Amino acid sequence: MGNIIELKNVTKKFGGITALNKASLHVGAGEIVGLIGDNGAGKSTLIKTLVGVYSPDEGEILIRDRKVSSWTALKAREAGIETVFQDRALCPQQSIVWNIFMGKELTYPFGFVREKEQINEANRLIREIGFTSKLINADSPVGNLSGGERQGVAIARAIYNNAELIILDEPTNALSLNETQKVFDFVKNVKKSNRSVLFIGHNIYHVYDISDRFVVLDRGEVVHQLTKNDVASPEELMKIMRDTIVQH
Ligand SMILES: Nc1ncnc2c1ncn2[C@@H]1O[C@H](COP(=O)(O)OP(=O)(O)OP(=O)(O)O)[C@@H](O)[C@H]1O
Ligand SMILES: [Mg+2]
Repeated sequence: MGNIIELKNVTKKFGGITALNKASLHVGAGEIVGLIGDNGAGKSTLIKTLVGVYSPDEGEILIRDRKVSSWTALKAREAGIETVFQDRALCPQQSIVWNIFMGKELTYPFGFVREKEQINEANRLIREIGFTSKLINADSPVGNLSGGERQGVAIARAIYNNAELIILDEPTNALSLNETQKVFDFVKNVKKSNRSVLFIGHNIYHVYDISDRFVVLDRGEVVHQLTKNDVASPEELMKIMRDTIVQH
């Protein structure tokens, strides 16, 4: 199983602050990796470096085991890495199909949109990731969907954009238990198609539930890389994190 992406000894500084200190992380195909750590640990900085928003001061980025130079957000997207942000990128007045194809419509040679095909494809995508309600279809306005379902639309769009690695930054923060479970089900379906997910969260129970592997950041350093087999429960994961912080 090869890696989709790997960061090797990446350091990122902001003025006098070392946000990442020789941090290494990899994500393999079909893997759900949970990235955890306290406020200010460097999670967002690591993600932004991975998706080409920040360029590292030191270290290497490898895509499918090949080193890249001058990594940019555009190159990251071309490499199949998509980030799903909480709500932000969706247009609630528009339909599911509109939101999935936004800016990347299927067209005929003269620019007419292939609407029927788009609707079929959107319906296929939302069923693939696990929408089950008969009341929801490609024409439904996104504004009528629950928070978890909206995240599902964002994930469907990422899949349409050929995402092989989908990054979810705090996807469950503002969601009820029920909605959180929906997002988890969507994520598990993403894994079935051998795509990978990098899941960033504060809630250890959520991260534990969904992830195959955990990467723990503390003050810019990767202090633990654990598989689910290494950790018996979310409580144990919490204890490992707490002990690390105390040792520092
Ligand atoms: N653009 C920036 N300019 C200056 N300092 C920054 C910038 N971005 C992050 N930092 C600093 O780098 C460190 C890591 O921040 P980062 O946002 O990556 O943490 P985080 O793990 O995502 O935290 P949170 O859980 O609160 O989102 C913090 O000390 C933060 O203040
Ligand atoms: Mg953050």
